[in-house]
Amino acid sequence: MAATAVIGSQWGDEGKGKIIDYLAGRSDMVVRAQGGGNAGHTVVIKDKKYALHLVPSGILNANIVNIIGNGVVFDPADFFEELSIFEKDGVSTENVFVSDRAHLVLPYHKTLDGLYEEARGGDDLGTTRKGIGPAYMDKIARIGLRVCDMLDETEFRRKLEDRIDRKNREIVTLYDGEPLDKAEIVAAYMEHARKLKPRARDIGTMVYNAISAGKKVLFEGAQGAMLDIDLGTYPYVTSSHPVSGGFTVGSGIGPGLIGDVIGVTKAYTTRVGKGPFVTELANAVGDRIREVGREYGATTGRPRRCGWFDGLVVRYSVRINGTKSLALTLLDVLSEFDELKICEHYEYNGEKLDYFPADLDVLAKCAPVYRTLPGWRADISGCRSYDELPQAARGYVEAIEEVCGARVGMISVGPDREQTMVR
Ligand code: GDP
Ligand code: IMO
Ligand code: MG
Repeated sequence: MAATAVIGSQWGDEGKGKIIDYLAGRSDMVVRAQGGGNAGHTVVIKDKKYALHLVPSGILNANIVNIIGNGVVFDPADFFEELSIFEKDGVSTENVFVSDRAHLVLPYHKTLDGLYEEARGGDDLGTTRKGIGPAYMDKIARIGLRVCDMLDETEFRRKLEDRIDRKNREIVTLYDGEPLDKAEIVAAYMEHARKLKPRARDIGTMVYNAISAGKKVLFEGAQGAMLDIDLGTYPYVTSSHPVSGGFTVGSGIGPGLIGDVIGVTKAYTTRVGKGPFVTELANAVGDRIREVGREYGATTGRPRRCGWFDGLVVRYSVRINGTKSLALTLLDVLSEFDELKICEHYEYNGEKLDYFPADLDVLAKCAPVYRTLPGWRADISGCRSYDELPQAARGYVEAIEEVCGARVGMISVGPDREQTMVR
């Protein structure tokens, strides 16, 4: 028995929340292993819509154990606020646990995220300002605080006061910012610590035992492969590993325990924040995709940049994730176009480029080379099997398979849990 990994194939917001919620109906455990409150995963069930940031997207299925792994940067204040939304709706949050090794996102990380962005001037990254980069910086610099640090009250107070003093010096001296109120933060976080105790676990053991006992375990990726700190469009990336390899170090299990890898893939491309985007449509077509697909960030509300499907990106993503099949989402959004384009490769200096370049100056000079396909011009949001799709829609799906080198195993034709087909 092995776990199933679900990752985002592009620049995030591919519909991972929807696909995880769907698959969770047949699973026992859902595990987040990287990222943090920068994620915004939407789950829609009938007329109810939830945006999940830290809580795994299995929460709306009864009897699922939801795990936040050691690789996540964890903001206790945001976490309890998010839990209260579910509790108000009568959704049980009893089975939500967090790794005692997870690093904390503290108020100074959010302040510094904003100050670092402002200091970059026009070269800002367009982060979510959720403190993600600064929290991972502290982790790597070995001055971070972890969930386990919260469990000893006296020691936690001492460590937290020390960090706030240090960070206030940085905020005031280097960035001319306002110092944070130490007493207020300490009081709030001592309370969070008390509430967190029963949920803090050695989650590596929990995940390992679940897989060994033959339970169905799903790993829920946040962000997308092109936002990976090593493999994405650096520096316009996030500070973690949103690829399938990230699940192992981010949850404390070995790679042999991951079997299937599903790449959630949007039927076109979007990106929120700054950075290169070769197939971007900064025109009326892009605007129309944004409007029909309601492409606005689930975490920050920012309009998402939209463009045609980039087959080079997804082919690269299939390789670096070891993706076995794609879950193709938002296909219904393309229903109103007469013709559709799929980028097969890039052209650089008059030559075919068949790999994703590291150098952003090279990328800036790349032009997309498209295959044009006919649209289907019909409402497909009610289709529930592959055969029900119009021929042109099936042609589009099969062209994606050919260009990306992976089979499309699931198709989503609307935001609701029901609007999903398994092929
Ligand atoms: P995630 O971050 O990958 O979970 O994706 P987001 O939730 O940020 O963005 C995906 C958006 O598309 C959300 O608003 C979903 O409700 C919506 N969505 C997901 N699948 C479909 C689909 O097949 N069709 C349509 N129209 N919307 C979808
Ligand atoms: P989900 O899980 C889309 C982007 C930000 C910014 C860059 C760095 O919903 O797919 P950060 O705050 O992480 O330091 O910002 O990464 N970004 C996302 N874009 N979906 C996400 O998550 C993202 N999380 C971060 O917009 O460009
Ligand atoms: Mg999202």
